[in-house]
Parts: sequence; C-alpha cells; structure tokens
Amino acid sequence: MTTVRFDPAPAGLKGTLRVPPDKSISHRSAIFAAMAPEPVRVRNYLDAADTNSTLAAVEKVGALVERRGGGELVIRGTGLREPHPADGPIDVGNAGTLMRLLPGWLAAQPGQRWTFDGDSSIRRRPVDRIADPLRQMGATIEATNERFPPFTLHGAELRGIEYVMPVASAQVKSCVLIAGMNTAEPTTVVEPAPSRDHTERMLAAAGVPITRDGVRVTVGRVDELGLDHVDVPGDASSAAFWVAAAVLVPGSRIVLEDVNVNWTRTGFLRIVERMGGIVLGDLEPHGAFTPGEPVSELDVAHGPLRGTTVDAEEVPLAIDELPLVALLGCFAEGETVVRGAQELKVKESDRIATVVDGLGALGADIEATDDGFVVRGTGGLRGGRIGSHGDHRLAMLGAIAGLASREGVEVDGMEAAAVSYPGFTADLATLLAR
Ligand code: S3P
Repeated sequence: MTTVRFDPAPAGLKGTLRVPPDKSISHRSAIFAAMAPEPVRVRNYLDAADTNSTLAAVEKVGALVERRGGGELVIRGTGLREPHPADGPIDVGNAGTLMRLLPGWLAAQPGQRWTFDGDSSIRRRPVDRIADPLRQMGATIEATNERFPPFTLHGAELRGIEYVMPVASAQVKSCVLIAGMNTAEPTTVVEPAPSRDHTERMLAAAGVPITRDGVRVTVGRVDELGLDHVDVPGDASSAAFWVAAAVLVPGSRIVLEDVNVNWTRTGFLRIVERMGGIVLGDLEPHGAFTPGEPVSELDVAHGPLRGTTVDAEEVPLAIDELPLVALLGCFAEGETVVRGAQELKVKESDRIATVVDGLGALGADIEATDDGFVVRGTGGLRGGRIGSHGDHRLAMLGAIAGLASREGVEVDGMEAAAVSYPGFTADLATLLAR
C-alpha cells in the first residue's frame, strides 16, 4: 500500500489540463465495438485499471483489440450474436460498469454460459439488480448468496419486457437496453429519475432504434451495430477533482479542456455554482465528440461557498461526485445536506461510511444519515490521515482535502487512483509548478 502526503498549497493551483478520457464512455465503446461486425476505431480510450479490465473481458469473449498507442484502439468484434465461450471466469477487476453491462449482451446467447468474478470490492457489490430483469427476460443467473459475484450467467432466447427500475442506475438501464437489442419484442426501461445516458447516445449513433419518452427508454431488436468510430471526451468525474481544488484553494485558477458536458454528467457543476463557486466556462458545448457527446472548456477559480441541499432527483446526475460535495461543505458557510443517496453504500466502498469517517478524521463536522450525510461548514479543514479503502475516488478526495487543509493530509492506499486516473499525482504536480 502506498501512502502519499498532500501538503497545503499556499500559492494555489494554476494551469491548463486535459483530464483523462471518460471511463463510462470508454467501457461502452469497447463493449459495443465487441458486438459490431466491422472494426471500430476508438480514439482517446482511457488507459486505466477499470477500462483495461474491459478490454481483457471483450478479448475473452472473442473480440480482437489492436492497441495502436496514444489511446487509439481498433477493435474487431464478433457480431451481436457470436460472442465466444470463455476459458475460465471473466475477471472484471474493480469495474462495476463492466460487471453490469457485459451480462446484458451475453444473457441473450442461448446455450452459452459465463462466470464473472472480480476483486474484493466487487464481491460486495450487488448483481441482483441486473439478475432480476435478466431473469424476467428468460436468462438464468446463479449468484453468491443470491446477490453477489462470483456469478454464473446462462444465456437464453430472451423476451422483451417493460422494466420499472427500483433504483436510478445507468448501469442497470444499460444492461436491460443491451439485452433488449436481442429480443423479438421491444424492451422498455422506466427510470425513477434520469441517469447518465451514454448508452442511449452511443447506440443511437450505431443505428439502433432507441427512443425516449420522458422517463421511458425503449429499444428495438437489431441484427448489427453500425458503429464506425468513437472519440472519447474528457471525464467530467475526473475533472470534478480539479474543479473542487480550484474552488477550495485560495489563489487557484484552473482551465480544463475538452470535458464532456453531457447534462446527465454535470450535476456536480450545477451544485458547485449553487454553492457560489465560480465556473467560468459556460456549460454550453463547444464541440461534439462522436457519438453525440458534447464537450466544453471549464475555467474554475477560487471563491467563497455557501451550503446547499442535494435531493434524490439530483443524485444520479452527480453520483460519483457526492464525496466532493461533502468536502466543499466543510468549507462552506452553513449546512450542506445530501439525501436520497443510499446508492453511495454500494459503490467501490460504502461511500457514506468512508466519506463521513474519512473527512471526520480530518476535522470535519460531518454526520452520516440513512441516505446521505450532513456537513456543517467550519470554513476549513485541519488535515490528518485518510484511507482510500481501495476506492479510487476516496484516494483523490483525500488528496484534494490535503491541498485545501491547514496541516496537510496523508492518504493511505493512494495507488487506488489508478482505477480511473493513473496520472493524477503527475497532473497535480503540473498545477503546483506554476
Ligand atoms: C456508471 C454509472 C454509475 C456510476 C459509475 C459508472 C456507468 O453507477 O456510479 O461510476 O458507467 O454507467 P450506477 O448506474 O450503478 O449508479
């Protein structure tokens, strides 16, 4: 385990950065390319532990991945109905998105079976949320204690369903929509609240009949995916760490280039603005990366903050950034409340417990609730020691807390950042060097 110390940054953070490619879009580009009959060129694929697990997984079911360097890949898929049998379990590593999306495809392959497993964090993340709809569609899934990996999936001829999702989850929505491309009848997913829609955008770009009517998303059967190429934009969730750093550390001004500003991913920026933070780059897209993903430049500066409340409907739009909302709350005037966020308990760590305990140990006045947390702003943070619990976003939260703290923060398990952002400490060094 690596311990890294992050000292207060008295001169602020300054400079221009290109954040890593988006993790969600990278996962989807590899999985959809594996289903395509023609080679798909992917530019700017995220080279990180999670998305490398996805490349290994699609290779395991028959796709050929040519790594051309500089984030460029050419993926030769098997076609929608021809994935290969795997010799041994598919190892998803730490990647929940891989574990929830790939079964949507494989469940529709009659007579075949695959076993999925991953690391110790993935083994406590529920798969009943995809097993329930896939069983309704006709597949068989045997999971550990009915709910957890490792699990074995038996493919079948699937039927179309209307699935009313009990939780707002882009992963579950995507799984059912992917399975629905193989059902004779249309398949509809009803979302309790909008969640990230990268699957819908990429499938539409690939010629799949997919329509949205309010909270209902319907997909029809297709015989092939017409995906030609994907350019992956910068990850809004990785950018969020620098947005928080710029807002919190006096003297900072950070420009972030080519960040995906799909509105289903920019909930955190809207929360920051509500708290009084200064995000100068408007959220209007400056260009569109294919397929259909808008990008923009963000220009963020330090400023005072006030507390806010994040309610259930806003949670899916900022789900991975809620730990940062807690950190901002420590510096804000008044109370910051996050509620309706039970989902945090089943992320890479139990993020209600790890965020509350972690920031509490650094001097925050923060309290866990059943569905979120309450932070009373004290205008600053003392500092101390925080553990990542193997959770990439916790590791980077600790780092940003250190920069903004009075005494600095030591992060135990900083190596976890490599799950989504291997160049995190190198990027930090460039922002501190100016
Ligand atoms: C993701 C969806 C979210 C998010 C995760 C990535 C995706 O999970 O937390 O990091 O790529 O679809 P849920 O859909 O389970 O909330």
